Amino acid sequence: MTITVPEPALVLLVGPAGAGKSTFAHAHFRRSEVVSSDAMREMLSGDAADQGASAEAFRVLDIIVNGRLRRRLTPVVDATNLRAANRRRYRRLAARYGIPTVVIAFDLQAETYQRRNSGRVDRIVPEPVVADHIDRMRAAVEELRGEGHAAVYLLRDGDSHVDLTRQASDAAGAGS
Ligand code: UTP
Ligand code: MG
Repeated sequence: MTITVPEPALVLLVGPAGAGKSTFAHAHFRRSEVVSSDAMREMLSGDAADQGASAEAFRVLDIIVNGRLRRRLTPVVDATNLRAANRRRYRRLAARYGIPTVVIAFDLQAETYQRRNSGRVDRIVPEPVVADHIDRMRAAVEELRGEGHAAVYLLRDGDSHVDLTRQASDAAGAGS
């Protein structure tokens, strides 16, 4: 599996809790590129799972995403991104800067999400919450290709090796 990410791009990771988004982000992107809703909640409240801090966490996250796009730096949004409306909002924001959006979605078996989630040492998301995410993920997988992203990659069970390459953007936007 080869993933090509233009430089810069807005990268949206899409997947239920336990999918492996943060693990993937850590393995393939620079630390400063990854903007995580869990990290924002933790900074605000001391607890990455504190849903009461979510609204504020996403406002902070959005400020960073916007600031990086304005500087023509790649942000990687490490959140579930399961709502089409949120993905559209991010895509439009990036488009305002002439920056393409790349979606990397974790289209795995339901058991894989649940197994990865329940096997975590730090923060286990309640099983019914993961089940709800899985329902929304099924809808997302149907919708993603029609949303106007520059590229949509679906990671599947068994895609053990992912080769992520960065591609210098063409001149559009960069030099003007
Ligand atoms: P992550 O913590 O990366 O999931 O992996 P996530 O998508 O970011 O989850 P949320 O949305 O923040 O809740 C979940 C667990 O799955 C393991 C990780 O080590 C972690 O314990 N994992 C991840 C695997 O076993 N294999 C993988 O390929 C990826
Ligand atoms: Mg995570």
